[in-house]
Amino acid sequence: MIPSLFPLARPLLQALDAEVAHQLTIRALSLAPLRAPGTDDPRLAVDLIGRRFPNPVGLAAGFDKQCEVPDALLALGFGFVELGGVVPNPQPGNPRPRVFRLPRDEAVINRFGLNSDGLRAARERMAARRRRGIVGVNIGANSDSRDRIADYVACTAALAPLVDFITVNVSSPNTPGLRDLQGEAFLDDLLARVAEARHQAADAGTRTTAIVLKIAPDMGLDALDSIVATAARRGIDALMVSNSTVARPASLRETELAREAGGLSGKPLFAPSTQLLAQAYLRAGGRIPLIGVGGIDSAQAAWTKIRAGASLLQLYSALVYKGPGLIGDIKAGLVQRLTSECTTLAEAVGSDAAAIAEGRFD
Ligand SMILES: Cc1cc2nc3c(=O)[nH]c(=O)nc-3n(C[C@H](O)[C@H](O)[C@H](O)COP(=O)(O)O)c2cc1C
Repeated sequence: MIPSLFPLARPLLQALDAEVAHQLTIRALSLAPLRAPGTDDPRLAVDLIGRRFPNPVGLAAGFDKQCEVPDALLALGFGFVELGGVVPNPQPGNPRPRVFRLPRDEAVINRFGLNSDGLRAARERMAARRRRGIVGVNIGANSDSRDRIADYVACTAALAPLVDFITVNVSSPNTPGLRDLQGEAFLDDLLARVAEARHQAADAGTRTTAIVLKIAPDMGLDALDSIVATAARRGIDALMVSNSTVARPASLRETELAREAGGLSGKPLFAPSTQLLAQAYLRAGGRIPLIGVGGIDSAQAAWTKIRAGASLLQLYSALVYKGPGLIGDIKAGLVQRLTSECTTLAEAVGSDAAAIAEGRFD
């Protein structure tokens, strides 16, 4: 929803089925006149994966699943936008309803199941835009795929020439078996073949597209050890922590809605995803930069993610509750922090990882 209309439209949107409200938002964005995003404070710039990000606040995958409005989203002030998830063949996803708001928890549960118009449509939409601003795409496998790794390779080969980064999503909870690809043998093979597909695209004259690996929050530290080691060995450009969770914290107040199957995102995901991020930071030891996602809903939460180890941030669910004004609020709050603590973003990254990895947040 465009910022100026959001306060007026919010009560209406919140009265609607969550998926219908979202479709209306995408439609409004596609119709809104494109404004150039304002200039960010230079202290918010981040140099990573061979790109200069104007600010570290990105939009997470799943908002613009069909790659329809990247430029309108960049115009809202995001430093980068991730489109998708895209899978090779069009697939409808799970039956509706498949997305639920948990207002008292400021959370969302979704079980879309990677509904996608498919690779061809995504490619056409992305090829039609004039490239400006940093855009990535989230890729997955078809639910009936016989060769899941081949699906990721096909998406990488087709989309690498059109985007700044590709996120290998092995962490959606709504495609049965997808998270098994996080296991060491599978992951090693998957990342090797995706990297190869990326190199072939680069050989054809494309600027090198970064490969990002997005992981689930629902794992033990042994599994995390193996993922970080495999990602480092395979030269992955960044690790994204995390996708939504299949856990249901006892603190949830919307107990009826909490029984819905799917991935939980938003505020209740903040603590577990940030703790895992800090654990990943300690293991990566500077070899792989991290992108922190999960429950960011304020400048304070964004700052904690950075201190846990995130060089870049993404959010989604908080937009449902706070609207796009949140993006500017977070950026202004981060600048205030940098000023009051006389520090830089680069210095702050990981500065409290050891404490946060043990669950001590302040
Ligand atoms: C409705 C919805 C759809 C999503 N679809 C995807 C997806 O297609 N691929 C993916 O990797 N993550 C997807 N996600 C997960 C988000 O990208 C993000 O990792 C998660 O929501 C945590 O961030 P948040 O707490 O700020 O929402 C989706 C999340 C929501 C709420």
